Parts: sequence; structure tokens; C-alpha cells
Amino acid sequence: MNGPIISPSILSADFATLGEEVRAVSEAGADWIHLDVMDGHFVPNLTFGPAVIKALRPYSAKPFDVHLMIAPADPYLAAFAEAGADTISVHVEAGPHIHRSLQAIRDLGKRAGIALNPGTPASAVEPLLDLVDLVLVMTVNPGFGGQSFIPSTLETIGRLRAICAGRAIDIEVDGGIGPETVALAARAGANAFVAGNAVFKGGPAGYAERIAAIRAGAAAVGGGPLSC
Ligand code: DX5
Ligand code: ZN
Repeated sequence: MNGPIISPSILSADFATLGEEVRAVSEAGADWIHLDVMDGHFVPNLTFGPAVIKALRPYSAKPFDVHLMIAPADPYLAAFAEAGADTISVHVEAGPHIHRSLQAIRDLGKRAGIALNPGTPASAVEPLLDLVDLVLVMTVNPGFGGQSFIPSTLETIGRLRAICAGRAIDIEVDGGIGPETVALAARAGANAFVAGNAVFKGGPAGYAERIAAIRAGAAAVGGGPLSC
């Protein structure tokens, strides 16, 4: 996909009406729907699993961008694939066999993503690039929405862009992204942008306007191609 990809995170949506929230944000211009799965072990918070994602699937035709913050991930990959995930991202820090996890996601016929915490260097994913369709750079420490963007992650994004040169790999950023920080991340080399609070805070009447503002912030950045 050319141009910035905006992937609203339903972590900041109204959990009492999640289906309607997914429908509303899809109709408001989301390119992907970002689903944050947390286990209270790899990250200090709990959210939802494959049953909820399966229940949400009929509410949108947009790709489901599933971010697994769970350890281990491997026993659940098939369930997330069956639930309707299009991309499944696993953390490089979540276990000793990330290569196997990425192979398993591809074998399930899904796009494979690898996620990095803010303290993990870009070089950690270098041996894995043949196996991934997306690299997800955490721009906050994972676990909660509404945190502040960590500027040191810009260097990681820039390094990844260089490492990924010539490959069809999306570079996605996640955490503290809004109309201003999105431009920093885009300039550094990201082409896909997760936003939770910046989209959902304030309610459905503003979803279209807020998605458009984030898209404009990313698109305003001149320079080379957005995808690496
Ligand atoms: C954090 C999640 C993010 C989060 C982003 O662990 O992975 O997707 O929802 O929320 P904001 O955009 O509010 O920082
Ligand atoms: Zn996420």
C-alpha cells in the first residue's frame, strides 16, 4: 500500500461496545485495525484473546493487525489465525525461538510481524528479515495506552529502514503516536502508524477527523518512499 497506513488501536476504545467501535473506526478511514493482546506476564496488563477477535471479525473488512504481547506465543498462533488475524506480530523478546514463531505464522498463511521493545536494538531483527512482512517498533514500553512517545526509538526506526532497504517490509510504530509525533516517525522511516488515544479519545464523532489529522501529519513529511 502506498502512503501512510493508519492502524487505530482498539485498546483505547469503549470495551462495552467493541464491535460498534471497530465498525465506526473502519468507516472513519482506518486502514488496518490494531488489536493488542496482553497476558499479564510478558506485559503488566491483560486484554483479550482469540475469541474476542473472532467476535469482532464481522464488524470490519479491514485487515486485522494483531499485536501479541504474550509469552509463550506459539501455542496460540493457530487460534489467532483462525480468529481472523491478517498480520500477527510477535515480540523478539518473548521467547528463545522467534524464528520458529515467524515460520509458524507464515505457514498459517498470515503476514508475519516482529515487534521490538524500546530497549531492543534494530540489529536484533536482522537475521529474521527473510521471514517478516512487518517490523513493529514500540515507541513506548508495551502494556498501556496513553503513554508518551520515547524519542530514542527514532534512531531504531532509522536503522531499520536502512537494514530493510530493498525489501517489501512495513515499518510500523506503536505508542504515543499523534498528529505531531507521527511526523517524526515518518521522517525516520516508518510507514504504518498505530494510534490509540489519539483516535479514540473524545468519542466516535471525531474518529474521521482524528484519523485524517494523523494521516496528514505522516503524509506531510517529504523525502523518499514511505515503505522500506
Ligand atoms: C501498547 C499498545 C499500543 C497502544 C497504543 O502496549 O501496544 O498499541 O494501544 O496506545 P497510544 O496510541 O494511546 O499510545
Ligand atoms: Zn500495539
